[in-house]
Amino acid sequence: MKVLVVGGGGREHAICWKLAQSPKVTELYCAPGNAGIAHVAQCVDVKATDVDGMVAWARDNAMDFVMVAPDDPLALGMVDAMEAAGIPAFGPRANAAILEASKAFSKELMKKYHIPTAKYQTFTELDKALAYIEAQGAPIVVKVDGLALGKGVVVAATVDEAKQAAREMMADHKFGASGSTVVIEECMTGPEVTVLAFTDGKTVVPMPASQDHKRAYDGNRGPNTGGMGAISPPPQYTPEIARRCMEEIFQPTIDALRAEGRPFQGVLYFGLMLTPDGPKVVEYNARFGDPECQVVLSLLDTDLMDILQACVEGTLDRLDIRWKNEAGCIVVLASGGYPLDYQKGYPISGLEEAGKAATVFHAGTKLGPDGEYLTNGGRVLGVTATAPTLDEAIAAAYDAARHISFQDLHMRTDIGHAF
Ligand code: AMP
Ligand code: GLY
Repeated sequence: MKVLVVGGGGREHAICWKLAQSPKVTELYCAPGNAGIAHVAQCVDVKATDVDGMVAWARDNAMDFVMVAPDDPLALGMVDAMEAAGIPAFGPRANAAILEASKAFSKELMKKYHIPTAKYQTFTELDKALAYIEAQGAPIVVKVDGLALGKGVVVAATVDEAKQAAREMMADHKFGASGSTVVIEECMTGPEVTVLAFTDGKTVVPMPASQDHKRAYDGNRGPNTGGMGAISPPPQYTPEIARRCMEEIFQPTIDALRAEGRPFQGVLYFGLMLTPDGPKVVEYNARFGDPECQVVLSLLDTDLMDILQACVEGTLDRLDIRWKNEAGCIVVLASGGYPLDYQKGYPISGLEEAGKAATVFHAGTKLGPDGEYLTNGGRVLGVTATAPTLDEAIAAAYDAARHISFQDLHMRTDIGHAF
């Protein structure tokens, strides 16, 4: 099969790395890809958000299957467009990807179908939002409605902080049009876990749980990032909690979307908080999480291509998906200053040495004029290790990560020990 993966970060490197192991995949392409992905797939110079360009390329080059990994092209309807062109494509259609693209939509869905989540109200007028914050008191959470790269959420400790956030979103348009609607919700407490699940719209198969580390600095301090590292499985996610999540959250969400005429085919990301009242949904994403994907796919034994096809064909109930009985850890190596200001273009050394002990996924790299690897993003690399125990996996990931250097390299030193 000729397969195209859309995207170009660490998540897409992990997906391509796994698909390259499939005997079914004879030609693998990635658009736009990156310097690390180029080891396992041929990179194609089409932007991930260029829906027409991507469909044209896939058709002209006779792709048999397309895997759309990032949120933006999903929300833009890339899967719908591929289907219209007769190309099987993995990922939700736009009418289901809205689960991530609109928090107002996802909160309403959860309310209607009694899926546990924080209590909330949606606002389009600033004065009403401010009055609600005043009435509820703090702590309280203020979120922009649309996609904001994980940065449109303020967990406010005081009423003033919450009001300031609402003003910035709704009056100052800090997040552009995404902030014209805000969701204000109850502040939940408890450890956070991610569960990624494969689904064909009827059957849902959760992958091993994982735990992202979203803050930039050790001790869960500093600004929110796309994710600085992850482990799998997190010790807090017990079999009893997993059972409750399946009954109260995973299957009900899939059934709700189908009942609404928006069947969800692809990977559904459940961002969960294990509160004293039980597991509740913090957020849904319509795709693999990054960096969670890198550690979870490292634990997958089954051919990923078989799973992607079963999701598209609606036959997931017939597939036996197997996982290594191990644990995993990914440590992200970022450019100093990420997620705010950072420089790019620094040479990277130590990749070969690190690659002997762990799998190094490239998130933001490019090749320099002499074929050397250069930093090319906020998150640069994801060093991923698996081992029989979580402690061993964490130690192995850090041992490998310490071989790598580039100017202003920043990594957290407490991945797996922060919660
Ligand atoms: P989101 O983009 O919705 O995942 O929010 C980003 C982060 O903000 C989450 O990972 C949580 O750590 C935090 N957060 C979001 N909603 C809540 C909430 N209702 N209560 C407590 N923390 C929250
Ligand atoms: N790691 C969080 C996300 O992918 O949204």
